[in-house]
Amino acid sequence: MGNAIYKRIAKCRICGNKNLVKYLNLGKTPLANRLLGPQDTDKQEEKFPLEVMYCKNCSLSQLSILVSPRVLFSYYPYRSSISSAFRKHCAEMSNKISGTLKTKPNGLIVDIASNDGCLLQEFKKNNFRTLGIEPAKNLAKIAEENGIDTVNSFWNGETAEKIIPIHGKAQVIIATNVLAHVDNLNKFMAAVGILLRDDGLFIVEVPYLYDLISKNEFDTIYHEHLSYFLVKPLQKLYNDHGFTIVNIEKYPIHGGTIRVYASKKSPGRENPGKSVSNFLNFEQNEGMYSLKTYNKLDDRVKKIKKDLLKALKNLKGKGKKIAAYGASAKGSTLLNYCGIDNGLISFIVDDTPEKQNHLAPGSKIKIVDASYMEKNKPDYLLLLAWNFAKEIMEKTSKIYGKPVRYIIPVPKVKIQ
Ligand code: TMP
Repeated sequence: MGNAIYKRIAKCRICGNKNLVKYLNLGKTPLANRLLGPQDTDKQEEKFPLEVMYCKNCSLSQLSILVSPRVLFSYYPYRSSISSAFRKHCAEMSNKISGTLKTKPNGLIVDIASNDGCLLQEFKKNNFRTLGIEPAKNLAKIAEENGIDTVNSFWNGETAEKIIPIHGKAQVIIATNVLAHVDNLNKFMAAVGILLRDDGLFIVEVPYLYDLISKNEFDTIYHEHLSYFLVKPLQKLYNDHGFTIVNIEKYPIHGGTIRVYASKKSPGRENPGKSVSNFLNFEQNEGMYSLKTYNKLDDRVKKIKKDLLKALKNLKGKGKKIAAYGASAKGSTLLNYCGIDNGLISFIVDDTPEKQNHLAPGSKIKIVDASYMEKNKPDYLLLLAWNFAKEIMEKTSKIYGKPVRYIIPVPKVKIQ
Protein backbone atom coordinates (compact mmCIF):
# COMPACT_ATOMS: atom_id res chain seq x y z
CA MET A 1 0.00 0.00 0.00
CA GLY A 2 3.03 2.28 -0.39
CA ASN A 3 3.15 5.21 1.99
CA ALA A 4 -0.62 5.63 2.26
CA ILE A 5 -1.96 5.22 5.79
CA TYR A 6 -5.04 3.40 4.60
CA LYS A 7 -6.69 1.93 1.52
CA ARG A 8 -10.21 0.82 0.59
CA ILE A 9 -10.89 -2.91 0.33
CA ALA A 10 -12.58 -3.85 -2.93
CA LYS A 11 -12.90 -7.62 -2.62
CA CYS A 12 -13.39 -10.38 -0.10
CA ARG A 13 -10.20 -11.27 1.72
CA ILE A 14 -11.03 -14.99 1.55
CA CYS A 15 -12.91 -15.73 -1.68
CA GLY A 16 -12.04 -12.69 -3.81
CA ASN A 17 -15.71 -11.86 -4.50
CA LYS A 18 -16.40 -8.19 -5.26
CA ASN A 19 -20.03 -8.28 -4.22
CA LEU A 20 -19.56 -6.74 -0.76
CA VAL A 21 -22.46 -5.02 0.96
CA LYS A 22 -22.05 -2.49 3.76
CA TYR A 23 -24.29 -3.27 6.75
CA LEU A 24 -22.88 -1.22 9.61
CA ASN A 25 -21.45 2.29 9.71
CA LEU A 26 -19.93 3.39 13.01
CA GLY A 27 -18.77 6.75 11.67
CA LYS A 28 -15.18 7.96 11.68
CA THR A 29 -13.09 7.04 14.71
CA PRO A 30 -9.44 7.40 15.74
CA LEU A 31 -7.32 4.24 16.02
CA ALA A 32 -8.48 2.40 19.13
CA ASN A 33 -5.06 1.71 20.63
CA ARG A 34 -3.48 5.03 19.66
CA LEU A 35 -3.43 6.51 23.16
CA LEU A 36 -2.56 10.17 23.60
CA GLY A 37 0.01 11.72 25.90
CA PRO A 38 -1.22 13.58 29.01
CA GLN A 39 -0.48 16.92 27.24
CA ASP A 40 -2.53 16.13 24.12
CA THR A 41 -5.86 17.52 25.34
CA ASP A 42 -6.29 19.69 22.22
CA LYS A 43 -4.67 17.37 19.70
CA GLN A 44 -6.49 16.89 16.39
CA GLU A 45 -6.45 13.14 15.83
CA GLU A 46 -6.70 11.47 12.46
CA LYS A 47 -9.99 9.59 12.12
CA PHE A 48 -10.81 6.71 9.81
CA PRO A 49 -14.12 5.30 8.54
CA LEU A 50 -15.33 2.32 10.58
CA GLU A 51 -17.71 0.32 8.39
CA VAL A 52 -18.43 -3.39 8.03
CA MET A 53 -19.15 -5.23 4.77
CA TYR A 54 -20.74 -8.64 4.17
CA CYS A 55 -19.48 -10.96 1.43
CA LYS A 56 -22.49 -12.37 -0.39
CA ASN A 57 -20.46 -15.34 -1.54
CA CYS A 58 -18.63 -16.78 1.50
CA SER A 59 -20.30 -14.78 4.34
CA LEU A 60 -17.09 -13.25 5.68
CA SER A 61 -17.57 -9.84 7.31
CA GLN A 62 -14.75 -7.35 6.92
CA LEU A 63 -13.96 -3.67 7.33
CA SER A 64 -14.25 -1.44 4.28
CA ILE A 65 -10.70 -0.12 4.75
CA LEU A 66 -7.28 -1.36 5.73
CA VAL A 67 -5.08 0.86 7.89
CA SER A 68 -1.38 0.11 7.34
CA PRO A 69 -0.34 -2.77 9.65
CA ARG A 70 2.91 -0.95 10.45
CA VAL A 71 0.85 1.94 11.81
CA LEU A 72 -1.41 -0.42 13.78
CA PHE A 73 0.95 -2.99 15.25
CA SER A 74 4.53 -1.78 15.66
CA TYR A 75 3.73 -0.49 19.12
CA TYR A 76 0.93 -2.22 20.94
CA PRO A 77 -0.09 -1.39 24.52
CA TYR A 78 -2.34 -4.44 24.96
CA ARG A 79 -0.95 -7.08 27.32
CA SER A 80 -2.65 -10.48 27.35
CA SER A 81 -1.55 -11.37 30.84
CA ILE A 82 -3.30 -8.45 32.59
CA SER A 83 -6.49 -10.47 32.86
CA SER A 84 -6.54 -13.44 35.22
CA ALA A 85 -9.49 -14.86 33.22
CA PHE A 86 -7.33 -14.88 30.10
CA ARG A 87 -4.38 -16.39 31.97
CA LYS A 88 -6.71 -19.12 33.19
CA HIS A 89 -7.96 -19.67 29.63
CA CYS A 90 -4.32 -20.05 28.46
CA ALA A 91 -3.51 -22.54 31.22
CA GLU A 92 -6.57 -24.63 30.37
CA MET A 93 -5.70 -24.55 26.69
CA SER A 94 -2.17 -25.70 27.34
CA ASN A 95 -3.27 -28.47 29.69
CA LYS A 96 -5.89 -29.67 27.25
CA ILE A 97 -3.57 -29.75 24.27
CA SER A 98 -0.70 -31.26 26.24
CA GLY A 99 -2.95 -33.90 27.75
CA THR A 100 -5.16 -34.98 24.88
CA LEU A 101 -2.74 -34.94 21.95
CA LYS A 102 -0.05 -37.46 21.38
CA THR A 103 2.55 -34.77 21.82
CA LYS A 104 6.08 -35.77 20.86
CA PRO A 105 8.72 -35.28 23.51
CA ASN A 106 10.47 -31.99 23.04
CA GLY A 107 7.91 -30.88 20.41
CA LEU A 108 8.00 -27.26 19.29
CA ILE A 109 4.97 -25.06 19.98
CA VAL A 110 4.89 -21.82 18.01
CA ASP A 111 2.55 -19.00 18.98
CA ILE A 112 1.88 -16.41 16.28
CA ALA A 113 1.42 -12.93 17.76
CA SER A 114 2.54 -14.24 21.11
CA ASN A 115 2.04 -10.90 22.87
CA ASP A 116 3.83 -10.92 26.25
CA GLY A 117 4.29 -14.71 26.16
CA CYS A 118 1.22 -15.37 28.34
CA LEU A 119 0.16 -18.57 26.51
CA LEU A 120 3.66 -19.94 25.90
CA GLN A 121 4.48 -19.64 29.61
CA GLU A 122 1.84 -22.32 30.14
CA PHE A 123 3.28 -24.62 27.48
CA LYS A 124 6.72 -24.17 28.96
CA LYS A 125 5.35 -25.39 32.28
CA ASN A 126 4.19 -28.49 30.38
CA ASN A 127 7.74 -29.09 29.11
CA PHE A 128 7.39 -28.06 25.50
CA ARG A 129 9.94 -26.13 23.52
CA THR A 130 8.28 -22.82 22.79
CA LEU A 131 8.80 -20.01 20.31
CA GLY A 132 6.84 -16.77 20.07
CA ILE A 133 6.45 -14.57 16.99
CA GLU A 134 5.53 -11.01 17.90
CA PRO A 135 5.75 -7.87 15.73
CA ALA A 136 5.41 -5.35 18.59
CA LYS A 137 8.88 -4.54 19.95
CA ASN A 138 7.62 -3.59 23.41
CA LEU A 139 5.80 -6.92 23.84
CA ALA A 140 8.57 -9.12 22.38
CA LYS A 141 10.92 -7.52 24.91
CA ILE A 142 8.62 -8.30 27.85
CA ALA A 143 8.27 -11.92 26.68
CA GLU A 144 12.06 -12.32 26.37
CA GLU A 145 12.52 -10.86 29.85
CA ASN A 146 10.09 -13.51 31.09
CA GLY A 147 12.16 -16.28 29.49
CA ILE A 148 10.05 -16.84 26.36
CA ASP A 149 12.18 -17.07 23.22
CA THR A 150 10.54 -14.59 20.81
CA VAL A 151 11.16 -13.57 17.20
CA ASN A 152 10.31 -9.88 16.83
CA SER A 153 8.73 -9.85 13.36
CA PHE A 154 5.52 -10.11 11.38
CA TRP A 155 4.36 -13.61 10.51
CA ASN A 156 5.08 -14.53 6.89
CA GLY A 157 6.84 -17.15 4.74
CA GLU A 158 10.20 -15.52 5.22
CA THR A 159 9.87 -15.64 9.03
CA ALA A 160 8.78 -19.31 8.80
CA GLU A 161 11.77 -20.23 6.57
CA LYS A 162 14.21 -18.54 8.94
CA ILE A 163 12.92 -20.51 11.93
CA ILE A 164 13.30 -24.03 10.47
CA PRO A 165 17.12 -24.32 10.43
CA ILE A 166 17.31 -23.05 14.02
CA HIS A 167 14.34 -24.73 15.73
CA GLY A 168 13.04 -27.34 13.24
CA LYS A 169 9.39 -27.62 12.18
CA ALA A 170 6.56 -27.03 14.62
CA GLN A 171 4.41 -29.73 16.14
CA VAL A 172 1.71 -27.22 16.98
CA ILE A 173 1.17 -23.70 15.64
CA ILE A 174 -1.26 -21.56 17.58
CA ALA A 175 -2.83 -18.26 16.57
CA THR A 176 -5.20 -16.84 19.17
CA ASN A 177 -6.92 -13.53 18.48
CA VAL A 178 -4.70 -12.79 15.51
CA LEU A 179 -6.47 -13.96 12.33
CA ALA A 180 -8.83 -11.01 12.53
CA HIS A 181 -5.78 -8.73 12.34
CA VAL A 182 -4.39 -10.25 9.15
CA ASP A 183 -4.91 -8.68 5.73
CA ASN A 184 -3.38 -11.31 3.49
CA LEU A 185 -4.83 -14.51 4.90
CA ASN A 186 -3.48 -16.54 1.98
CA LYS A 187 0.10 -15.59 2.74
CA PHE A 188 -0.54 -16.22 6.42
CA MET A 189 -1.79 -19.76 5.72
CA ALA A 190 1.04 -20.46 3.28
CA ALA A 191 3.54 -19.57 6.03
CA VAL A 192 1.77 -21.94 8.44
CA GLY A 193 2.08 -24.67 5.78
CA ILE A 194 5.85 -24.07 5.61
CA LEU A 195 6.58 -24.28 9.35
CA LEU A 196 4.08 -26.97 10.43
CA ARG A 197 5.12 -30.62 10.40
CA ASP A 198 2.99 -32.84 8.16
CA ASP A 199 1.51 -34.50 11.25
CA GLY A 200 1.24 -31.19 13.12
CA LEU A 201 -1.77 -29.29 14.37
CA PHE A 202 -2.78 -25.72 13.61
CA ILE A 203 -5.00 -24.15 16.28
CA VAL A 204 -6.81 -20.88 15.83
CA GLU A 205 -9.02 -18.89 18.18
CA VAL A 206 -11.17 -16.12 16.75
CA PRO A 207 -14.11 -14.14 18.11
CA TYR A 208 -17.24 -15.75 16.64
CA LEU A 209 -19.30 -13.45 14.42
CA TYR A 210 -22.51 -15.15 15.54
CA ASP A 211 -21.93 -13.79 19.07
CA LEU A 212 -21.05 -10.32 17.81
CA ILE A 213 -24.32 -10.11 15.87
CA SER A 214 -26.62 -11.85 18.33
CA LYS A 215 -25.26 -10.02 21.40
CA ASN A 216 -24.76 -6.61 19.76
CA GLU A 217 -21.02 -6.63 20.49
CA PHE A 218 -20.49 -3.83 17.97
CA ASP A 219 -17.71 -2.31 20.08
CA THR A 220 -15.45 -5.28 19.21
CA ILE A 221 -15.30 -3.66 15.77
CA TYR A 222 -12.22 -1.45 15.38
CA HIS A 223 -9.53 -0.86 12.79
CA GLU A 224 -7.27 -3.66 14.02
CA HIS A 225 -10.04 -6.19 13.50
CA LEU A 226 -10.08 -6.47 9.73
CA SER A 227 -12.28 -9.60 9.51
CA TYR A 228 -15.13 -11.18 11.52
CA PHE A 229 -15.37 -14.94 11.13
CA LEU A 230 -17.88 -17.71 10.75
CA VAL A 231 -16.91 -21.34 10.18
CA LYS A 232 -18.05 -21.21 6.54
CA PRO A 233 -15.41 -18.73 5.27
CA LEU A 234 -12.74 -20.31 7.48
CA GLN A 235 -13.42 -23.69 5.94
CA LYS A 236 -12.97 -22.20 2.48
CA LEU A 237 -9.66 -20.62 3.52
CA TYR A 238 -8.34 -23.85 5.03
CA ASN A 239 -9.47 -25.93 2.05
CA ASP A 240 -7.68 -23.63 -0.35
CA HIS A 241 -4.45 -24.26 1.56
CA GLY A 242 -4.71 -28.03 1.95
CA PHE A 243 -5.92 -28.02 5.56
CA THR A 244 -8.89 -29.90 7.06
CA ILE A 245 -10.75 -28.70 10.14
CA VAL A 246 -10.71 -31.63 12.56
CA ASN A 247 -12.59 -30.07 15.45
CA ILE A 248 -14.26 -26.85 16.60
CA GLU A 249 -15.02 -25.85 20.18
CA LYS A 250 -16.81 -22.82 21.57
CA TYR A 251 -15.55 -20.76 24.55
CA PRO A 252 -17.08 -17.74 26.33
CA ILE A 253 -13.83 -15.73 26.39
CA HIS A 254 -13.93 -12.29 24.67
CA GLY A 255 -17.70 -12.38 24.28
CA GLY A 256 -17.73 -15.71 22.37
CA THR A 257 -14.78 -17.40 20.70
CA ILE A 258 -14.35 -20.48 18.52
CA ARG A 259 -11.26 -22.64 18.71
CA VAL A 260 -10.60 -24.33 15.39
CA TYR A 261 -8.23 -27.30 15.17
CA ALA A 262 -6.89 -28.12 11.69
CA SER A 263 -4.36 -30.47 10.20
CA LYS A 264 -2.73 -30.81 6.81
CA LYS A 265 -4.77 -33.00 4.47
CA SER A 266 -3.25 -36.42 3.98
CA PRO A 267 -4.68 -39.82 2.97
CA GLY A 268 -7.22 -40.70 5.67
CA ARG A 269 -7.28 -37.11 6.94
CA GLU A 270 -9.33 -35.33 4.29
CA ASN A 271 -12.75 -35.30 5.92
CA PRO A 272 -13.74 -32.55 8.33
CA GLY A 273 -14.72 -33.55 11.86
CA LYS A 274 -18.40 -33.90 12.82
CA SER A 275 -18.36 -30.61 14.75
CA VAL A 276 -17.76 -28.77 11.47
CA SER A 277 -21.12 -29.79 9.97
CA ASN A 278 -22.78 -29.01 13.32
CA PHE A 279 -21.42 -25.46 13.20
CA LEU A 280 -22.30 -25.01 9.52
CA ASN A 281 -25.88 -26.15 10.16
CA PHE A 282 -26.11 -23.85 13.15
CA GLU A 283 -24.91 -20.86 11.13
CA GLN A 284 -27.38 -21.64 8.35
CA ASN A 285 -30.28 -22.01 10.80
CA GLU A 286 -29.40 -18.77 12.58
CA GLY A 287 -29.52 -16.82 9.30
CA MET A 288 -25.80 -16.09 9.25
CA TYR A 289 -25.67 -16.59 5.48
CA SER A 290 -28.37 -14.02 4.85
CA LEU A 291 -27.80 -10.26 4.58
CA LYS A 292 -31.14 -9.61 6.28
CA THR A 293 -29.73 -10.83 9.61
CA TYR A 294 -26.91 -8.31 9.41
CA ASN A 295 -29.05 -5.38 8.33
CA LYS A 296 -30.98 -5.54 11.60
CA LEU A 297 -27.87 -4.85 13.71
CA ASP A 298 -27.77 -1.14 12.89
CA ASP A 299 -31.03 -0.32 14.72
CA ARG A 300 -29.98 -2.25 17.82
CA VAL A 301 -26.63 -0.45 17.93
CA LYS A 302 -28.32 2.95 17.59
CA LYS A 303 -30.57 2.03 20.49
CA ILE A 304 -27.57 1.21 22.70
CA LYS A 305 -26.11 4.63 21.92
CA LYS A 306 -29.38 6.38 22.74
CA ASP A 307 -29.96 4.43 25.97
CA LEU A 308 -26.39 4.79 27.18
CA LEU A 309 -26.27 8.56 26.63
CA LYS A 310 -29.63 8.96 28.32
CA ALA A 311 -28.52 6.92 31.34
CA LEU A 312 -25.19 8.75 31.70
CA LYS A 313 -26.75 12.22 31.35
CA ASN A 314 -29.48 11.30 33.79
CA LEU A 315 -26.97 10.14 36.43
CA LYS A 316 -24.74 13.13 35.83
CA GLY A 317 -27.78 15.40 36.27
CA LYS A 318 -28.30 13.83 39.69
CA GLY A 319 -24.73 14.75 40.65
CA LYS A 320 -23.34 11.21 40.38
CA LYS A 321 -19.67 10.63 39.64
CA ILE A 322 -19.16 8.20 36.75
CA ALA A 323 -15.86 6.55 35.82
CA ALA A 324 -15.10 3.69 33.43
CA TYR A 325 -13.10 0.48 33.82
CA GLY A 326 -10.79 -0.97 31.14
CA ALA A 327 -9.16 1.32 28.56
CA SER A 328 -9.82 -1.42 26.02
CA ALA A 329 -9.88 -0.98 22.27
CA LYS A 330 -13.57 -1.85 22.33
CA GLY A 331 -14.03 0.93 24.89
CA SER A 332 -12.59 3.30 22.32
CA THR A 333 -15.18 2.26 19.72
CA LEU A 334 -17.99 2.57 22.25
CA LEU A 335 -16.97 6.01 23.53
CA ASN A 336 -16.30 7.44 20.09
CA TYR A 337 -19.39 6.02 18.42
CA CYS A 338 -21.60 7.24 21.27
CA GLY A 339 -19.83 10.61 21.53
CA ILE A 340 -18.96 10.20 25.21
CA ASP A 341 -16.13 12.39 26.51
CA ASN A 342 -14.61 13.62 29.77
CA GLY A 343 -17.70 15.75 30.46
CA LEU A 344 -19.58 12.52 31.24
CA ILE A 345 -16.86 10.13 32.37
CA SER A 346 -14.28 11.44 34.86
CA PHE A 347 -11.54 8.83 34.27
CA ILE A 348 -10.85 5.29 33.04
CA VAL A 349 -9.15 2.79 35.34
CA ASP A 350 -6.72 0.33 33.76
CA ASP A 351 -4.04 -1.90 35.29
CA THR A 352 -1.80 -1.81 32.22
CA PRO A 353 1.22 0.39 33.07
CA GLU A 354 1.65 1.41 29.38
CA LYS A 355 -1.88 2.84 29.32
CA GLN A 356 -1.83 4.75 32.59
CA ASN A 357 -1.23 8.52 32.49
CA HIS A 358 -2.40 8.62 28.87
CA LEU A 359 -5.62 9.94 27.34
CA ALA A 360 -8.08 7.62 25.59
CA PRO A 361 -8.26 8.21 21.81
CA GLY A 362 -10.99 10.62 20.70
CA SER A 363 -12.75 10.93 24.04
CA LYS A 364 -9.56 12.27 25.71
CA ILE A 365 -10.61 10.79 29.04
CA LYS A 366 -7.61 10.27 31.32
CA ILE A 367 -6.49 6.71 32.09
CA VAL A 368 -5.46 6.09 35.69
CA ASP A 369 -4.45 3.25 37.98
CA ALA A 370 -6.67 1.64 40.62
CA SER A 371 -5.25 3.72 43.47
CA TYR A 372 -6.61 6.88 41.77
CA MET A 373 -10.08 5.34 41.84
CA GLU A 374 -9.75 4.60 45.54
CA LYS A 375 -9.04 8.26 46.22
CA ASN A 376 -11.70 9.58 43.81
CA LYS A 377 -14.48 7.14 44.50
CA PRO A 378 -17.01 7.05 41.64
CA ASP A 379 -20.67 6.14 42.21
CA TYR A 380 -20.90 4.31 38.90
CA LEU A 381 -18.43 2.38 36.76
CA LEU A 382 -19.06 1.97 33.03
CA LEU A 383 -17.61 -1.43 32.10
CA LEU A 384 -15.68 -0.88 28.87
CA ALA A 385 -14.09 -4.33 29.21
CA TRP A 386 -17.46 -6.06 29.73
CA ASN A 387 -15.87 -9.34 28.61
CA PHE A 388 -14.14 -9.42 31.98
CA ALA A 389 -17.13 -8.08 33.95
CA LYS A 390 -17.01 -10.75 36.64
CA GLU A 391 -13.29 -10.31 37.28
CA ILE A 392 -13.55 -6.51 37.35
CA MET A 393 -16.56 -6.51 39.67
CA GLU A 394 -14.76 -8.80 42.10
CA LYS A 395 -11.70 -6.58 42.01
CA THR A 396 -13.49 -3.28 42.45
CA SER A 397 -15.74 -4.44 45.25
CA LYS A 398 -12.65 -5.51 47.19
CA ILE A 399 -10.78 -2.21 46.96
CA TYR A 400 -13.85 -0.07 47.24
CA GLY A 401 -15.18 0.98 50.64
CA LYS A 402 -18.61 2.22 49.54
CA PRO A 403 -21.00 0.45 47.18
CA VAL A 404 -20.43 1.05 43.49
CA ARG A 405 -22.91 0.38 40.72
CA TYR A 406 -22.04 -0.84 37.25
CA ILE A 407 -23.21 0.22 33.81
CA ILE A 408 -22.90 -2.59 31.27
CA PRO A 409 -23.36 -1.41 27.66
CA VAL A 410 -24.00 -4.67 25.75
CA PRO A 411 -26.04 -6.67 24.72
CA LYS A 412 -28.24 -3.85 25.98
CA VAL A 413 -27.63 -1.07 28.47
CA LYS A 414 -28.02 -2.40 31.98
CA ILE A 415 -27.35 -0.81 35.38
CA GLN A 416 -26.76 -3.12 38.29
P1 TMP B 1 -9.92 -6.22 26.14
O1 TMP B 1 -11.36 -6.12 26.47
O2 TMP B 1 -9.58 -5.73 24.76
O3 TMP B 1 -9.38 -7.58 26.44
O4 TMP B 1 -9.16 -5.18 27.10
C1 TMP B 1 -9.32 -5.24 28.47
C2 TMP B 1 -8.69 -3.99 29.09
O5 TMP B 1 -9.06 -3.95 30.45
C3 TMP B 1 -7.19 -3.97 29.04
O6 TMP B 1 -6.75 -2.65 28.80
C4 TMP B 1 -6.77 -4.40 30.44
C5 TMP B 1 -7.91 -3.90 31.27
N1 TMP B 1 -8.13 -4.67 32.48
C6 TMP B 1 -7.66 -4.18 33.69
O7 TMP B 1 -7.07 -3.11 33.72
N2 TMP B 1 -7.87 -4.90 34.83
C7 TMP B 1 -8.52 -6.10 34.81
O8 TMP B 1 -8.68 -6.72 35.85
C8 TMP B 1 -8.99 -6.60 33.56
C9 TMP B 1 -9.71 -7.90 33.49
C10 TMP B 1 -8.78 -5.85 32.42
